[in-house]
Amino acid sequence: MSAASGKPVAIITGGAGGIGSATCRQLGRAGYRVVITDVTRERGEAFAQALRGEGLEATYRDLDVASEAAWNALREHVLAEHGAPLVLVNNAGIDVVKDSFATTPDEWDRIFAVNVKGMYLGSRAFARDLHAEAERRGRHASIVNMSSICGLIGVAFQTAYCASKGAVRLYTKAQALEYSALGLKVRVNSIHPGTVDTAFAAQCLKELGEVGFAPSPDEARAAIARAHPIGHMADADEIADAIVFLASDQSRFMTGSELVVDGGYTAQ
Ligand SMILES: NC(=O)c1ccc[n+]([C@@H]2O[C@H](COP(=O)([O-])OP(=O)(O)OC[C@H]3O[C@@H](n4cnc5c(N)ncnc54)[C@H](O)[C@@H]3O)[C@@H](O)[C@H]2O)c1
Repeated sequence: MSAASGKPVAIITGGAGGIGSATCRQLGRAGYRVVITDVTRERGEAFAQALRGEGLEATYRDLDVASEAAWNALREHVLAEHGAPLVLVNNAGIDVVKDSFATTPDEWDRIFAVNVKGMYLGSRAFARDLHAEAERRGRHASIVNMSSICGLIGVAFQTAYCASKGAVRLYTKAQALEYSALGLKVRVNSIHPGTVDTAFAAQCLKELGEVGFAPSPDEARAAIARAHPIGHMADADEIADAIVFLASDQSRFMTGSELVVDGGYTAQ
């Protein structure tokens, strides 16, 4: 079956966990054929099967976003099996919660390879295909880049992470302007969630407890919830809804924008 048969194709990186998997499900429900990519084959295959069980179109492929060869292999597969995509969600990301003396140069490089370079590699691999599909459908294609409130404000013990997410914010704006200048019908926007209740956040809170941010992970969790004026951490679906909006034509006049979805965290 090719994309010409109907449903637009959406690729999501880090799609087998947390915000990525919520996004896959919401995009599937919104009528996309979803290509789930991640570095966790067993979990990813099981998740794709679960989505198919819900009547959604979903397949899983391995993709380490930091590998150019992996992106090229994914592109070959997607074009052959599904046709050109209309949406790319660059969601995969990692964190290191340590003081900057304990953060090793290798950890610093890996954070930038996954959180920043991965987006550049993915956009580079697929931008012309996204444009071709946009032309075919008479609308713009969409790339959504996952940043964070940590791309807007500094957070102690997360220097490498904050630096990488700040880079995502300006990479997104530059890429959006460049595609417009090149005449590519591809919108590019970043999304900036507050703390989202996923495995990633649980690990960060545990590590924040260990570096003395709070006496225990539970107290760190309560303190983080209180820091969001809306009164709680986000559910992954609350972020996925905003990503679906950025993917869709509902956001057709947005490019180079930063969508903050943080329960008021950065309004203070
Ligand atoms: N959870 C939060 O509080 C929060 C807040 C703001 C932004 N974010 C960002 O949202 C994104 C998703 O976070 P999450 O909370 O869902 O995390 P998560 O750890 O629950 O899920 C991340 C997924 O990315 C995958 N992944 C890790 N390295 C990868 C790689 N090299 N290539 C491909 N996939 C890889 C993991 O296997 C996992 O499935 C990240 O970019 C994170 O920085 C998270």
